[in-house]
Amino acid sequence: MKELKIFLLLVFSAWVPSSSFTISNQFNSRTKSSSRSIQATTQQEVDATTATSASKPSIAIIGSGAVGCYYGARLYETNQYNVKFFMRNEHYTASTTNGLNVTSIHGDVFIPPEKLMAYDDIEEMGKTDWVILCLKSTGIDCVPELVVPLLKEDKSTRVLVIMNGLVDEDVIRLIEGYQEDEKDLKLTKCTVYGGMALLCSNRIRPGHIDHSYAGKLTASLAKANDENNEDNHRDAMLNLWKPTQGFEFVYDDNLVRARWSKNLWNLPFNGISVAMNGITVDQIVNDPGLRKLAYRVMDETLAVANTDLSVRGFSEKEYLGEVERAAMMQLSDDMGPYKTSTMLDLVNRRKMEVKYVFRKAVDRANELGVEVPTLDTLVTQIEFLQRKYNL
Ligand SMILES: *[C@@H]1O[C@H](CO)[C@@H](O)[C@H](O)[C@H]1NC(C)=O
Repeated sequence: MKELKIFLLLVFSAWVPSSSFTISNQFNSRTKSSSRSIQATTQQEVDATTATSASKPSIAIIGSGAVGCYYGARLYETNQYNVKFFMRNEHYTASTTNGLNVTSIHGDVFIPPEKLMAYDDIEEMGKTDWVILCLKSTGIDCVPELVVPLLKEDKSTRVLVIMNGLVDEDVIRLIEGYQEDEKDLKLTKCTVYGGMALLCSNRIRPGHIDHSYAGKLTASLAKANDENNEDNHRDAMLNLWKPTQGFEFVYDDNLVRARWSKNLWNLPFNGISVAMNGITVDQIVNDPGLRKLAYRVMDETLAVANTDLSVRGFSEKEYLGEVERAAMMQLSDDMGPYKTSTMLDLVNRRKMEVKYVFRKAVDRANELGVEVPTLDTLVTQIEFLQRKYNL
């Protein structure tokens, strides 16, 4: 407990509102501002609700699960976008019949069937201005068939990859059709951003998503379309989320750092919840042994992250440290009996995100010569369960 108090002090004393990294579980008080609508015509500025649907930017949500439906519903409720959801199977059937119901601690959103733009055929979605890719990383091989058909001929489409783990290079390879060993990852078809969601959200039944806690979304440019590099990629992303409410949006200029920040939660908490054969987050933070284990995994993650930042030429002021470590533990302390996504996959015997979340982190540590004995042990246990249950 003493350790925790010290870290809490650190969080508050080192709190920098303008920092690219903050944790917030508070309702975000950003107000709607119709005068700032994107690509606003004069008519839209007068009344966004009268804008014809053809004049609104279009957004494809690919992978309409707990994450995609939450942020998609938040974009929908601004009334400034045509939000198109790609859905499958019983989720598609339930949502198109009864509507999409997103219940949230920060206000519910219901999209009635006659307003819901749901598709189960990617070819029918048309080309879109934005693609928000929220696939599980186990489904990454679907990127060519699910993303490429949506990209505009003029290469202006922006793709935000809200996925777990170190996925961005492989997403770019798959969009461009490069081989796995290709290192020169020129991006010609679109612009790609990495997205990190600290969101407690579950699909509790087809057509119903429940958001129970947190929600912060961070995005960073992964790679700009080489032919279109005059654009202000940061502003485009900030403008997309500006009219939304119900979560905090942060743009981080450093994707490497942002991905490792998310790993700082995923590795200990998804990791231990799975290695312990399916326990909830409160069981980890309330057990003295597992709590210590979580800290140890975080410390090893910080060591890899900062070495990775260093070899990529970032200065020490970009490093992750005590503030982020304490913030992640605080987030978990307030989370209650949350079931991590990988833990749910294990207990429901679905494919687990082992490669991109766990294996790649250990491989990167080995490449960099950083010792991660605890993380390595945890990942060995997770990979055993993966083989045992063929997940
Ligand atoms: C959405 O789900 C909640 C919780 O089950 C329910 O109370 C509410 O009536 C649903 N909303 C609609 C419009 O179906």
